[in-house]
Amino acid sequence: MQILPTAARLQAYTEQARQIGKRVGLVPTMGALHDGHLQLVQAARAACDEVIVSIFVNPTQFNNAEDFRLYPRVPDADAAMLGPAGCTALFVPSVEEMYPQPTVLRFDFGALERVMEGAHRPGHFNGVATVVSKLFHLARPHHAYFGQKDWQQVAIIRQLAADLSFDLEIVACPTIREADGLAMSSRNRRLDPAARAAAPRLHQVLAAAAGQVRQGVAPAQVRAAAEESLRPDPLITLEYVEVADAQTLQPLSEYMPGRAVVLCLAAHLGGVRLIDNVVVED
Ligand code: PAJ
Repeated sequence: MQILPTAARLQAYTEQARQIGKRVGLVPTMGALHDGHLQLVQAARAACDEVIVSIFVNPTQFNNAEDFRLYPRVPDADAAMLGPAGCTALFVPSVEEMYPQPTVLRFDFGALERVMEGAHRPGHFNGVATVVSKLFHLARPHHAYFGQKDWQQVAIIRQLAADLSFDLEIVACPTIREADGLAMSSRNRRLDPAARAAAPRLHQVLAAAAGQVRQGVAPAQVRAAAEESLRPDPLITLEYVEVADAQTLQPLSEYMPGRAVVLCLAAHLGGVRLIDNVVVED
């Protein structure tokens, strides 16, 4: 596995690969890798000759300085996992390398970002779109891999790729969970034992809500029931729970035949912010 610390090295590496007809896959990450990330690497490995993983804790997508400071950073453990998983090159730029000057360009994804993560984390998707655009330009991958764990992020990146004519395929992979249902996340490392024990409640509540959606319970009632069932838990502070159209992400007041529904939530457990979602097909 090659280590590529600079943008120029990444460009040269992928350019050379493309010239000899290799298929290039890109897996953008912020590190502190887990099986959710490794699944993306494996999916890339199955379809591509070169699997480029980037690890970069992107400052511009953090709307909370403390969250950025405390974000887990374990570069050696990450690198040790990636070779065996099928990564061929690891891009690990510095902040100065990715942002030689402050960016002035601002992204606005309209209705897609006026809800859920976009509404609750001002500037977050601008930072995500900025760094992902830079990675797409530098690596020019044929395929780029993202997790459905961040459902709204995938929707934003699909919009970004379409609007800016990035010539690549976005591949979305399913959410990988711990045995008790907790969605894997780099932030789970920051949960203390009590918060970790409470955390599977988030998925349990979403699973129960999905059951209600399947039975045709009205969206407002599904939301209220989820809020109600998390309220007594002293360790969990719900930020939002939403019942939305899975494509447009707009909150639903009623179900539409033939349209999938996504149930999304964000919650704080002892100072750690977690998100999760489940999708209910029609
Ligand atoms: P990060 O949180 O490190 O996630 C990197 C990729 O792994 C994302 O596409 C995310 O959706 C996916 N992922 C995380 N947990 C997952 C799980 N449990 N199951 C499946 N996939 C999972 O998302 C980011 O980084 C950043 O916003 C990034 C896209 C790298 C831009 O900075």
